[in-house]
Formats: sequence, C-alpha cells, structure tokens
Amino acid sequence: MVRRGIAVTLFLAALAVLAFAAQTATVQAAPPKQNGVVGNPGKGAYLFALAGGCGCHMGAAGFLAGGEVFELGPAGKVYAKNITSDVETGIGSWTEQDVVNALRHGKRPDGEQLFPVMPYPYFSGMSEQDLHDVAAFIKTAPPVSNKVPARELNVPVPPFTAPPQPADAPTEGVARGSYIVNTIAHCSDCHTPTTAEGAPDMSRFLAGNPMFGSANITPSEEFGIGKWSQEQIYLLLKTGKRPDGSSVGGLMQLVLDGGLHDITEKDGFAVAAYLKTVPPVNAAPGAAAPPAAPPPQTLPTTGNSTPSMLIPLIAVVLMLLAGGAFVWRRARKV
Ligand code: HEC
Repeated sequence: MVRRGIAVTLFLAALAVLAFAAQTATVQAAPPKQNGVVGNPGKGAYLFALAGGCGCHMGAAGFLAGGEVFELGPAGKVYAKNITSDVETGIGSWTEQDVVNALRHGKRPDGEQLFPVMPYPYFSGMSEQDLHDVAAFIKTAPPVSNKVPARELNVPVPPFTAPPQPADAPTEGVARGSYIVNTIAHCSDCHTPTTAEGAPDMSRFLAGNPMFGSANITPSEEFGIGKWSQEQIYLLLKTGKRPDGSSVGGLMQLVLDGGLHDITEKDGFAVAAYLKTVPPVNAAPGAAAPPAAPPPQTLPTTGNSTPSMLIPLIAVVLMLLAGGAFVWRRARKV
C-alpha cells in the first residue's frame, strides 16, 4: 500500500515536472537585491522552528549536513545539500545574502537554480528581514564535513519569479496567522488536496489531503475543526493533543517535533484566528467535492505562487521524511 502510494506519487511528480518543463522558460528570477538588511540569528531560530526545522537537511550525517536523496522518478534525483558552515562541503563560504537568495529566489551564488523540492516558492513570500534572520541562524550551524553527491536531473529546473514580499512581516492577528500558515509553516502543503494535475485545489483549501492522511482544518463543524476554540487549536500546535485528549501522529507529529511546537502563544492564536476565517469545506478529506466554496479572500497576499509541480514533489519529500523520522528526531537531539 505504502509502496504503491510512493509509486503513484513519484509518477505524479514526474508528470508535473515534465508538464512544467514543456512550458517555455520565459521569465527569469529578478536579480537579488542588496539592501543592507542584517539578520538576527536569535529571531531566525524561532522562524526556523516554525518551518519545521528544515527537516529534509537532517540526515544521518548530522544537523543540517544533508545527504538525503529525493528520487523524482524519470526526472532524476536530487540530494538535500549540506547547509552547515563547513567551507569545503557545506555553505561556509556563502554570505548571509547568498543564503537569502537561495531562500527567496532558489538561486545559488554560482547562479544555479535549485530544484523546487527545496520549498523556496513558499519561503519567498517572507519579509526581507525574516529571510535574513533565518539565514543568519543557518549560518550558525556548526561545520560538518559531508560531501553530498551532485544532483542528476533529466529535466530543466522550472523558472521561478519571486512574488512580492511584505515590507514587514505582519506581527499580529489574522494577518500574522495568514503569513505563518502560507509562507513559513506552509500548512497547506499537507492540508490542501491536489487536483488531478497535481495543483493545489484552492476550492478545498485546507480541507485535508488523503495522500498524507491529513485532516480537514477548515471551520466546518462536522468535518473540520469548527467546534474547536482558538485556544484548542493553539494547544494542538503546542502539545500535539486534540481537545478530546488524543494525540496527532504521522506527519503532523513530525512537523511539531521539527520545531512547530515552539510556536509562541501569540503566534498560535494568530494561526487559530486565521484558520477561523477560511471558508468551511463540508466534506471529509478525499470525499467528493461539495459545492465549490469561493476561494479564500484572505489568502496569501504573498508567497502563494506555488507552482503546480511543487505539491507532488513535496509529497515525495514528505514520504521520504516519514521514513527518516527516526533519524530526524535523533538529529535534533544532537
Ligand atoms: C508535513 C505535513 C503537515 C504540515 C506541514 C502540517 N500538518 Fe497538520 N496534520 C498533518 C497530518 C498528517 C495530520 C493528521 C494527523 C493524525 O491524524 O494523527 C494533521 C493534523 C492536524 C490537526 C488536527 C486536526 C484534527 O481534526 O485532528 C490540526 C489542527 C493541524 N494539523 C493543523 C496544522 C497547522 C495549523 C499547520 C501549519 C502551522 C499544519 N497542521 C501543518 C500534516 C501536516
């Protein structure tokens, strides 16, 4: 069953990649801007946690030392890079701005475009300051020598144009919640079902994706979390426990262990407040679509340019992550 799921996922990923590759590569990423923003690694550590701790880079080699392989079917394979400060095998020679460019534009200093298994299309919508903070934190990772093999791609990397970014990250309320959900923590990756073409089905935004066994987290009282108070939503993020006392498992547990459970009360309530504003979808994950809900009004002002190929690719990443859960947990304890 699992093998079959992975095979299907790989197939979808390959299809989506090829579909993308077939499009003409017209738009190039804007040149990185140099603007003198300086990152704060302390603040970056918190954002890093909200992002689930960059779990893909946590292989057996150690904290952020990479090496995990991501098989993309006919498209080839890529490896999580060593993003420790090792100069030879990691990114020790990169400036903070170089790291920001990788997060916002998917570009390495040598000009190479990263394959979007690396979720830069989401991170791209973060504010410049937040990006610098995350970059500054990543640069504090102790050097680990781990030579990661070169990627083997049979398809071109799709072009990417960074979306507009907010001048400042929203600090409170629904706007803050939307920012967290749709950029840093990208909850919709796992919680929004995909169309047959692999694109996120925005008419069922956050209605649960059976591929990952994720829940409907829209305000539907019957099928979602409409009966949960904002505090109960916050407590789930903090403790992994539902209002009935049961614990979440699977990928949600991974995300929490990866760092999401470090979310502050204020941010947790902001996420909860935002989740209360998305249109309720009155159907169980994977059930036939109800009469289409209108696309959410409050949806991402930023960072929502997710290419349709990204979702199946992320599926691959997540399945691999699920397999490497043990390693990941161990890596975080180091
Ligand atoms: C890596 C995939 C993934 C990400 C990212 C993710 N989730 Fe989940 N989430 C899941 C899965 C899978 C479950 C179901 C777990 C289970 O059934 O034990 C779940 C369960 C939940 C539940 C419990 C719902 C219920 O009815 O039991 C809530 C609430 C939730 N997630 C909210 C969020 C929020 C908010 C975010 C972003 C901050 C988020 N999730 C990010 C995969 C994910």
